[in-house]
Amino acid sequence: MHLHRYLRALGAVRGLVVLTGAAVVTGLIVPTPAMADMDPIGAMARGGHLYDNWAKTLKMDAPEDTHPSWPSDSKKKGKTTWRCKSCHGWDYKGAEGAYGKGSFKTGIKGIAGAAGKDPSAIVAIMKDDTHAYGGKIDDADLAHLAAFVSGGQVDMTQYIDPGTLAPKGDAAKGAGYYNTICAGCHGEDGLKPKEMKPFGEQMAKDPWEVLHKILNGQAGEDEMPGLRALDTQIAVDIMAHMVSLPKER
Ligand code: HEC
Ligand code: HEC
Repeated sequence: MHLHRYLRALGAVRGLVVLTGAAVVTGLIVPTPAMADMDPIGAMARGGHLYDNWAKTLKMDAPEDTHPSWPSDSKKKGKTTWRCKSCHGWDYKGAEGAYGKGSFKTGIKGIAGAAGKDPSAIVAIMKDDTHAYGGKIDDADLAHLAAFVSGGQVDMTQYIDPGTLAPKGDAAKGAGYYNTICAGCHGEDGLKPKEMKPFGEQMAKDPWEVLHKILNGQAGEDEMPGLRALDTQIAVDIMAHMVSLPKER
């Protein structure tokens, strides 16, 4: 902003102090980054970003050391062990879901049992010795995480066949949604941006991660929309179309 415009804006703000008192002005000058009073759907989606990768969402460095509750016999170490999804899974089922095997196998239970729980009790869990997030993640951000855990989980087995990994959606409808909502950024073939794994490959390997990200958006990628405010079936129809997209570039 040019200096004179800045000064004019400052003058207007000073005028407001006189007119409306300091509280409003504090809001104008220093918008609370965590947006604690966001609407419930926005709060759940932001909680979904934090669940995926809180450090990336908050533009912070994750701790370098391995999380105290991460099993020491696992090959994974360091930053990734602090992500909620690493212990509890993209399907929220932990050891009973997709992370019952593979490199994220920890034997730790999911968060599905905490759906509907009092959010303040969930905040207390995240601050307990098992979790150790107190002092690392602000209370306002923990509140968004709790909003997601309590109210934002979907039962993924209702939407993705656990045996075949096929989304239980209508691919023809999904093509219309995909080509109008998603293709502008991701290409009709689902190969954009080029740093990203092709959608066809993502659908074959981890459709739960895809559903989590379609509903909530992508952690640290502010432009990627979340469809949480719409019927979940729309996201699943889109996924039914994404299955047919190329698996390789
Ligand atoms: C390093 C592994 C690990 C990470 C990372 C982790 N948790 Fe946990 N979590 C656990 C373990 C272990 C338990 C089970 C504790 C117990 O039963 O006493 C648990 C339990 C929970 C529960 C209670 C589930 C229930 O059925 O009541 C919630 C909710 C939860 N975690 C949320 C989170 C959130 C949100 C994050 C990210 C901010 C997170 N966890 C990150 C290991 C982890
Ligand atoms: C305004 C642009 C934009 C739109 C519209 C958009 N996305 Fe995205 N999306 C992104 C960006 C940027 C990323 C981050 C890509 C990366 O990881 O390199 C992303 C990431 C994703 C990811 C995670 C990819 C990964 O590697 O983990 C999925 C899945 C996804 N988008 C699906 C969709 C679907 C489905 C739609 C339509 C409902 C959609 N996106 C609409 C920009 C967009």
